[in-house]
Amino acid sequence: MSGFDQARALWEASGEAQPSQAKSPRRLFVKSYGCQMNVYDAQRMADLLAPEGYAETAVLEEADLVILNTCHIRERASEKVFSELGKLRVLKAARARAGRETRIVVAGCVAQAEGEEIFRRQRAVDVVVGPQSYHRLPALLRRAESSRAVLDTDFPAESKFDHLAAPGLRQIRKRGVAAFVTAQEGCDKFCTFCVVPYTRGAEVSRPVEEIAAEVARLAAAGVREVCIIGQNVNAYHGETPDGGAASLALLTARLAEVPGIARIRYTTSHPGDMDESLIKAHRDQPHLMPFLHLPVQSGSDSILAAMNRKHNRADYIALVADIRAARPDIALSSDFIVGFPGETDEDFVATLDLIEKIGFANAFSFKYSARPGTPAAALRNQIPDAVKAKRLLRLQDLLDRQRHAFNRQMVGRVLDVLIEKPGRHAGQIAGKSAYLQPVLMEGGLDRIGEIVRVEIVSSGGNSLFGRLLPEEPAQEAPR
Ligand code: 5AD
Ligand code: SF4
Repeated sequence: MSGFDQARALWEASGEAQPSQAKSPRRLFVKSYGCQMNVYDAQRMADLLAPEGYAETAVLEEADLVILNTCHIRERASEKVFSELGKLRVLKAARARAGRETRIVVAGCVAQAEGEEIFRRQRAVDVVVGPQSYHRLPALLRRAESSRAVLDTDFPAESKFDHLAAPGLRQIRKRGVAAFVTAQEGCDKFCTFCVVPYTRGAEVSRPVEEIAAEVARLAAAGVREVCIIGQNVNAYHGETPDGGAASLALLTARLAEVPGIARIRYTTSHPGDMDESLIKAHRDQPHLMPFLHLPVQSGSDSILAAMNRKHNRADYIALVADIRAARPDIALSSDFIVGFPGETDEDFVATLDLIEKIGFANAFSFKYSARPGTPAAALRNQIPDAVKAKRLLRLQDLLDRQRHAFNRQMVGRVLDVLIEKPGRHAGQIAGKSAYLQPVLMEGGLDRIGEIVRVEIVSSGGNSLFGRLLPEEPAQEAPR
C-alpha cells in the first residue's frame, strides 16, 4: 500500500471520507470538531474561500486545502487534532510526490490555545488561525505561499463578521432547513474548569439587525429553523438600531418576524443569565421551541462553588420551577462534569439526586479533564480516572433512563415535526420534534422543509418512529 493509500485508508477508518464527483481547480476539505459554533465557523470559512476559487469536497485526498477546525474543551478533543495531523502529513507527502501541493490549516480553539506549539509538533502545518481572526484566511494563505508557519491568533479590534462572505443560496440549501447563526461569542464567567474565556475571549454580541439580515438570507433559501448560538448566548446584549442593547428575548422576537422562519432555538445558556424576559418569552413566543439546554454541571453546592459557577443547587431548582411555570411542557437538557477536583461520593450523590429531582430529556456528561491554564487544573485534590469512570457510568445510566422515559411518553401522541432530510432507509424521511427528538417516518422527500403532524407509534430510545397524518395541519407557529 502506498503512503497515499495508507493515509486514505486511515482516514476512511475514522469514518470521514465520502464520495464526490465534481472536479474544479482548487478543492477544500473542512473538518470540524466540538461545539455548534465550530460547525458554524467552518461553514463561514468555506463561504469566505468560495470567492477565492475553493470548492468544498468531502474527499480528503483531492483537497488542495485542508482545514481542521479544532476544539480544546477537553484533553481528548485536543489530542485528536494532533493524531489527525499525523495522518495529514502522510497524505501531504504522498500528494507532493504526485506533484500536487496541499496546504494544511489548523483553526479553532486548539489553534488559539497552542499557537506556535502546533508548528513544533507538526511541521506539515502551514497556517494556524484563531477563532477571532479567520476572516483573514485568504490573506494568510497568500502569505503561506512564500513563508512557512503563518500564525494569526489575534483578537482583532475589527469584527470578523464585517469581513465574512455571505453563503450562496445553493450552498445554504445544501446545508439543510435548520441552521445555526452566531449571536454571541466568548464568555466572562470563568468557570474554573473551562478554557472558553481564554480561547474565545470576552463576551461580544452581534447587533440585532446584522443577525436578522443573516437569518433573512437563510430563510430566503428555505431555512425554517434557526438555532441562535453563543458560548453564553443568554448573556446576549446586541445593539439595537436606536443604539440600545437587546436581550435574547428581544432578539428571538425580532427573528420570529423573518418570513419563513417557523422555529427558533438557542444554545448554550448559563443559569445566572436566564432573565425574566427570556422566561416570559418561553410562555409568549410561539416560535420559541420548548427545549432548553441549561447546563448545571453538578448538584453539589461545594463543587458548584469550587467551579465558580455563581449559582447553587437551590438557585437551579427554583429557576427550573419558574421556567416550567412559564412553559410547562419544556424539555430540559444539561451538561454534567463528574470527578471535578475534590468531588466526594456525597457530592456525586447530590448530583444524582438533583437529576432525579429535575428530570432531564437529554444531557451531555463528561469526566473532568484538567485544562492547562485553568484554575482547577492547579488544584491538588484531583480525582483518579477510575473513580471518574465509575461515576460517569452511573450518571449516564440515570440520564439514559430519563431520556428513554421522556421519549417513551411521546408514544401515542401527535407531534409537529420539521422534516429535515431523507431517513436511513428508502422511502423514509427524518425530522425533529419541537423537543429536539429525531423522528423517522415513511414519506416523500418533497416534505423536506415542511412542519407536519406525526402520530408517534414507537420509541427506539433515542429516536421516535411515527406515521404522517397528511390531513392534519401543523399546530405550532402557523404561517
Ligand atoms: N472537563 C470536562 N468537561 C468540561 N466541559 C468544559 N470544560 C470541561 C473540562 N475541563 C464541559 C462542560 C461544558 C461543556 C461544553 O463541556 O460541561 O458545559
Ligand atoms: Fe465555560 Fe462556564 Fe463560560 Fe460555559 S459559562 S463557556 S462552562 S466559563
